Amino acid sequence: MYNLPHFPKLNIGDLELSLPIIQGGMGVGVSLSSLASAVAEEGGVGVISAAIINGVESVGSSTKSLKARLEFLRQEIRRSRRLTDGAIGVNILVALTDYEDYFRVSLEEGVECIFLGAGLPLKLPEMLADRGAFAHTKLIPIVSSARAARLIIKTWAKKYLRVPDAFVVEGPLAGGHLGFKPEQIDDPAFDLEHLLADVLRVAKEELVDSGARIPIIAAGGIYSGGDIDRFMELGAAGVQMATRFVTTYECDASLRFKLAYLEAGPEDIVIIKSPLGLPGRAVENEFLRSAERGERAPRNCPWKCMKSCDQRSARYCIAEALENARLGKLDEGFTFAGSNAYRADTIISVAELVRTLSSEYRLAVFRRMLVAYWERLKAGRRIIEPQGGLT
Ligand SMILES: Cc1cc2nc3c(=O)[nH]c(=O)nc-3n(C[C@H](O)[C@H](O)[C@H](O)COP(=O)(O)O)c2cc1C
Repeated sequence: MYNLPHFPKLNIGDLELSLPIIQGGMGVGVSLSSLASAVAEEGGVGVISAAIINGVESVGSSTKSLKARLEFLRQEIRRSRRLTDGAIGVNILVALTDYEDYFRVSLEEGVECIFLGAGLPLKLPEMLADRGAFAHTKLIPIVSSARAARLIIKTWAKKYLRVPDAFVVEGPLAGGHLGFKPEQIDDPAFDLEHLLADVLRVAKEELVDSGARIPIIAAGGIYSGGDIDRFMELGAAGVQMATRFVTTYECDASLRFKLAYLEAGPEDIVIIKSPLGLPGRAVENEFLRSAERGERAPRNCPWKCMKSCDQRSARYCIAEALENARLGKLDEGFTFAGSNAYRADTIISVAELVRTLSSEYRLAVFRRMLVAYWERLKAGRRIIEPQGGLT
């Protein structure tokens, strides 16, 4: 039997991962310690979302104070540590009002990776000046343009004498809030393939003097082992995937949330304008339709959990809507989802999902090698191609 290749390792500095897959952070409460520890146990990075937002009920009404929410994050990290020795990350939204507090707790808990999304992380907490103390934690911005990657590299080099440990490059097929203008989402010039090439080039240009080489991780619409092979062939050192992890037993959202994916068809995956002023991708439902019709009253928000939330024009509170969805109350909320969410047809364990991805990946590599071999053969010898070709 031909020996099919396994996933290559992903190295982020001195962190060596046997599975080149990062499970994308999913707020509110969709990726907590249960999902994160299961992915870490398989050899990837399991990511806890720090979007534990004011007013939500993740651990009852006690989450309403910042102190309680930070304690909740700390306990989730510790719980995942009890479940696995694998790599745990925290995803922090730069747009969170209390961004630096979540950052501090994640550093204190010594997580392997901190992913910085939903905004440009140009300001880092002062405690990072003590390099030795936190050298273990890799800082990984999530970007949707090469311009953002360049700005982060230049700013960190100047202000903090450091470079990011990696970048996640997130394209327009991702779930949740998107870092694109609405008209860019379907424009092929902004697709992940182009974006990845641009960020690879910029990282090379900007880091050539320092001699640093950092891994670039592709995200957004990556669903199968074949997709993983394709993006790694394009130069990604690994991938970040979120949507495919939602329909696992271990995902921290309610069964009703997962069923929204299983029941969706392609036409149900839509782009919405979130109260944060950004486009986002979600599964359409009556809650979103009624908000669109203007039937939901703007509310007076006492929390101000996201810097960019425009409370005067918001038709609903995004924190509450997402927390309701996590709990399965879809009459009062909605599920964020990537463009491939409708492809899910069953709920499986994370271990089973990784096995499926691995065999898909191995088959894709085998097929690619076979095609390359066939092409070489054709170029070298006169042979007759079978009908339909080798596709
Ligand atoms: C339900 C859901 C919630 C998400 N929440 C966040 C979040 O809180 N922070 C973030 O940086 N990205 C968030 N994302 C984006 C993912 O982390 C990931 O990068 C992206 O969805 C990858 O594309 P895929 O879902 O097609 O695999 C979310 C995605 C989904 C599906």
